[in-house]
Amino acid sequence: MVCLGNICRSPLAETILQRELAVHGIPATVDSCGTGNWHSGEAPDRRAMQVAQSNGIDISMLRARQLTAEDYQRFDFIFAMDRANYNDIIERAPIGTRTEHIHLFLDYAKIVSPRDVPDPYYGNIADFHRVYQLLEDASHRIIPLLRDYGAEGS
Ligand code: 4NP
Repeated sequence: MVCLGNICRSPLAETILQRELAVHGIPATVDSCGTGNWHSGEAPDRRAMQVAQSNGIDISMLRARQLTAEDYQRFDFIFAMDRANYNDIIERAPIGTRTEHIHLFLDYAKIVSPRDVPDPYYGNIADFHRVYQLLEDASHRIIPLLRDYGAEGS
């Protein structure tokens, strides 16, 4: 799960998808990072922690990190929160990287509108709640696709 700062959208996306996978008994490793490094080492944004908490998820132990070259190898999928993140991920792909496994998250989850998870950083708590709902919806819809992928891979 990749966003810009790794303190708002992607930490929420990581934990929401992790929970959804666990509910469905699908074994997977989910992680998140940012294309930028301004917040590396920091805990999630206070508002993201608050919204997660109100939905029964604790994200306070997460620490922001920047996307690395190893991430392209390590994960079966890379999901971008928005189009700008997607473009940055593609641009920085090490030579020889397969880019077919890099997707816009909402697109892969078959959510047509919006296409991007809106950046809530300069918004208010209501924007964070909206982001949470969108990520939860997308995580729910993506489960059958990830289950099929796992079944084919094993
Ligand atoms: P995120 O939100 O990409 O969802 O973590 C942002 C966090 C920080 C900044 C922008 C977006 N920033 O400009 O510092």
